Amino acid sequence: MMGSLSVSRSRLRTLAPAAALLCVGTALGVASAVSLEPFVPEAAIEYRPIEVGEDGYVTSESCRACHPSQYATWHGSFHRTMTQVATPESVRADFDGVVVDAVHGRPMHLARRGDEFWAEFDDPGWEGDPGERPRISRQVVMITGSHHQNIYWYSTGHDRALNVLPGVYLLDEERWTPRNAVVLAPPGQGVAMLDGHWNAVCIDCHTTHGKTRFDTPFGSEPLRDQTVDTTVAELGIACEACHGPAGAHVTANRNPLRRYGLHAGGGPDQTIVEPTRLDPQRSSQVCGQCHSIWEFPDSTAERAASVAGLPYRPGDELRTTRFVAHPRVNGRSEAMRAMIAADPDFVRGSFWADGLVRVSGREYNGLIDSPCFAEATTPERTLSCFSCHTMHKTPEDPRTVAEWADTHQVSAGMDGDAACTQCHDDIAIDPGAHTHHAPASAGSRCYNCHMPYTSYGLLRAIRSHTVTSPSVRESVAIGRPNACNLCHLDRTLAWSAEQMRNWYGQSPPDLGNDERSVAASILWLLGGDAGQRALTAWSYGWEPAQEASGTSWMVPYLGELLGDPYDAVRFISARSLRTIPGFETLQYDFTGSRDARIEAAVGALRAWRASPRARARRDPELLFGADGTLDTAAMRRVFDQRDSRPLFLRE
Ligand code: HEC
Ligand code: HEC
Ligand code: HEC
Ligand code: HEC
Ligand code: HEC
Ligand code: HEC
Ligand code: HEC
Ligand code: HEC
Repeated sequence: MMGSLSVSRSRLRTLAPAAALLCVGTALGVASAVSLEPFVPEAAIEYRPIEVGEDGYVTSESCRACHPSQYATWHGSFHRTMTQVATPESVRADFDGVVVDAVHGRPMHLARRGDEFWAEFDDPGWEGDPGERPRISRQVVMITGSHHQNIYWYSTGHDRALNVLPGVYLLDEERWTPRNAVVLAPPGQGVAMLDGHWNAVCIDCHTTHGKTRFDTPFGSEPLRDQTVDTTVAELGIACEACHGPAGAHVTANRNPLRRYGLHAGGGPDQTIVEPTRLDPQRSSQVCGQCHSIWEFPDSTAERAASVAGLPYRPGDELRTTRFVAHPRVNGRSEAMRAMIAADPDFVRGSFWADGLVRVSGREYNGLIDSPCFAEATTPERTLSCFSCHTMHKTPEDPRTVAEWADTHQVSAGMDGDAACTQCHDDIAIDPGAHTHHAPASAGSRCYNCHMPYTSYGLLRAIRSHTVTSPSVRESVAIGRPNACNLCHLDRTLAWSAEQMRNWYGQSPPDLGNDERSVAASILWLLGGDAGQRALTAWSYGWEPAQEASGTSWMVPYLGELLGDPYDAVRFISARSLRTIPGFETLQYDFTGSRDARIEAAVGALRAWRASPRARARRDPELLFGADGTLDTAAMRRVFDQRDSRPLFLRE
């Protein structure tokens, strides 16, 4: 094995300039520099997955001349840059002599060699004595993500198989961090580092028409004994992922008569799919092919897709070729049982106990569980992704393409109540009568009560894409925080239940002692499972919640979570703490040593105690005594009841 690795390493070096050239942007002439090097065709590149034109796919470049504006808006979207070849233009992290600490094992050393990026680290595939784990040095050839994170993939030296670097670069924080620290996983667990992981798994949702092309299913035989000839039609999520293979469309439109709409009878172009012309079920499935939790119906289908790519094409019924996990509907099906057999914690890691999806990137699962989708009887009144999002910013939209992309491609005006009142116009007549908040209050926004931040992913809370209504009964039975208490962080469950009885006639559930006397957010923050803690800690930093609840009292609670066993919970707590006046410059590293973390937490508590703000609140719900001191015994009591079952959220 070592022999074959050193051979391929030299192959990498000789072919490396090609990688720079084939940066998507550069090849398309968008980024103008660096094109003086000789052109090396993709087919000549042997050490990473390559782009090939086949099966009617013709790539985004062939659409550009006829559809310049759609091309430009797509070009500015994060869909395009989801998967990129590693080049000086696309790599956002510093590699020049950088050392990255690992949670386990020795640090990773990074180096820039001309236009190449190299990393040296402990061999993740070593099967011998852990004390003798060798170092390996590999070239970084591909990147996943460009909005929040850059995950880097190295060439394993075995055909086109890639494996992931043990460190990830966080773009907002401009820092490297261990790969396992950015997922919500129990201490010591995390994402596996497996040769071929990208080729077998990420390819399905991060590229256009990918083909894994292993000899045997992933994980069944050692990868080193088989050929790995992974190809894609285009790296990244390009036009044809949503519009279908467009070879026939391009050929047909070379005829100028067609271009002026004079083809057979006018009407929509039959050679291409425009998702919003499909019915709302089918149109959202175009997005659901990637924004959902799905599995192959059986192993034969998986084998076929490895060879020929996924069979789904825009316009098809997704469920013909995929099993979309939908616990409320197919929770007892054989396919679901098989998923659970393969991964016993899969359901809890992806869904709340009532079957609503709880992780990011799976918005289609959320949509189909919404009454606005499931109970709609006409296409006009059926909620779809396009009720709220556009995939091409329209010319009338005053935002720049970058602003539109950065605010998640939400359509102009659909970031507010109009997203709901476009159908629920009766409520728009007198919204205050429905919301019981002042019209301008954050507590009057439909989204904040009906699509609250109860999904988790990418180190933050994300709006649930299941339309639900706040309910204390549900919070108690399921553990999903309700919208009222996620904004009124200083109030109890009993308080919300009482308001909702008065306002909406909801019958209050039976509540325990703490649920009546301690602010709900404190119960979730100290006593909840890691997922509840992460969501609540995020809300402590959310501006509307800070306005509704004040911030001075939050410091000891967030300070407590600086010592949380879960990396992601600590990261989020520190970020929220830094939004509180006086704590902006908190010195704390969520991956630092335990001692350093405790020291930072104690320091924060000391600073809080010394500030006059600390004694501003006297609320017993916040566990403050009448003299403004904190009832640490009560905190301990809640803490001791913590749900410490291990939780790994499959975002
Ligand atoms: C030679 C010019 C040409 C090329 C190249 C071309 N198109 Fe088109 N496309 C057209 C014309 C003209 C129309 C309008 C057709 C009509 O009304 O029949 C159109 C319409 C469309 C529509 C809208 C269909 C509808 O129902 O409204 C989509 C989507 C589309 N093209 C996507 C693409 C994609 C994706 C590519 C590249 C893979 C592409 N086109 C390449 C000329 C072209
Ligand atoms: C079932 C489809 C699917 C699979 C398989 C999948 N992803 Fe994703 N991924 C998504 C979607 C959808 C998003 C967008 C989520 C969002 O932005 O909220 C996403 C987003 C991401 C992001 C954030 C990107 C950014 O710009 O910050 C990273 C990183 C990521 N995925 C890594 C991976 C890795 C690594 C794999 C393979 C091990 C993988 N994903 C497999 C669907 C998938
Ligand atoms: C993520 C899915 C997605 C991708 C990628 C995508 N489109 Fe679209 N496209 C859509 C949807 C959905 C519409 C309907 C209008 C909208 O939502 O903006 C659309 C509409 C269009 C139309 C019809 C005119 C219009 O603006 O309504 C054309 C032409 C088009 N796309 C071309 C392209 C081209 C060319 C690319 C790549 C350069 C591309 N699309 C990439 C989803 C996509
Ligand atoms: C081929 C898979 C694929 C398809 C098809 C697809 N997406 Fe995505 N989408 C992704 C991935 C992966 C990301 C993460 C990109 C990133 O943020 O780096 C993403 C990102 C997004 C984002 C932006 C998230 C952010 O970071 O702001 C939105 C919004 C979105 N998709 C909506 C849609 C909609 C609506 C459709 C249907 C028209 C669609 N997508 C089709 C895979 C896909
Ligand atoms: C009722 C309106 C609505 C519908 C329907 C809707 N979205 Fe969204 N979506 C939003 C809003 C608003 C945001 C931005 C949330 C925020 O600001 O935090 C968003 C955010 C997103 C994000 C980025 C999440 C993040 O924070 O990283 C993705 C991805 C996404 N939507 C995909 C989809 C897909 C796919 C569908 C269809 C299955 C869909 N959405 C349907 C309103 C909607
Ligand atoms: C495309 C139309 C459409 C949009 C947009 C829409 N809905 Fe709905 N909604 C419906 C339909 C249809 C139903 C099913 C009951 C009915 O026919 O009124 C429904 C049902 C509901 C229900 C449950 C009613 C019940 O009695 O159980 C709530 C709550 C709701 N919608 C809130 C919202 C909110 C909040 C938004 C914005 C985030 C929204 N809807 C966006 C069409 C829509
Ligand atoms: C996104 C934040 C947000 C959400 C969600 C929210 N509120 Fe409010 N609420 C506020 C704000 C801010 C105020 C301050 C006064 C105002 O702006 O109306 C307030 C005021 C109130 C008040 C009166 C003042 C007080 O504190 O006694 C009550 C009662 C109330 N909310 C109850 C609720 C209930 C019950 C829910 C859930 C059904 C809810 N709120 C959801 C933000 C929110
Ligand atoms: C302060 C929280 C809050 C806000 C803000 C809010 N709602 Fe509601 N809404 C609720 C609650 C709670 C229910 C459930 C009532 C019940 O239990 O029957 C509800 C029910 C609904 C229903 C179904 C039953 C009905 O009354 O028709 C619809 C539709 C709805 N809301 C739409 C909206 C729209 C549209 C907006 C924005 C203009 C909005 N809501 C804003 C709390 C809120």
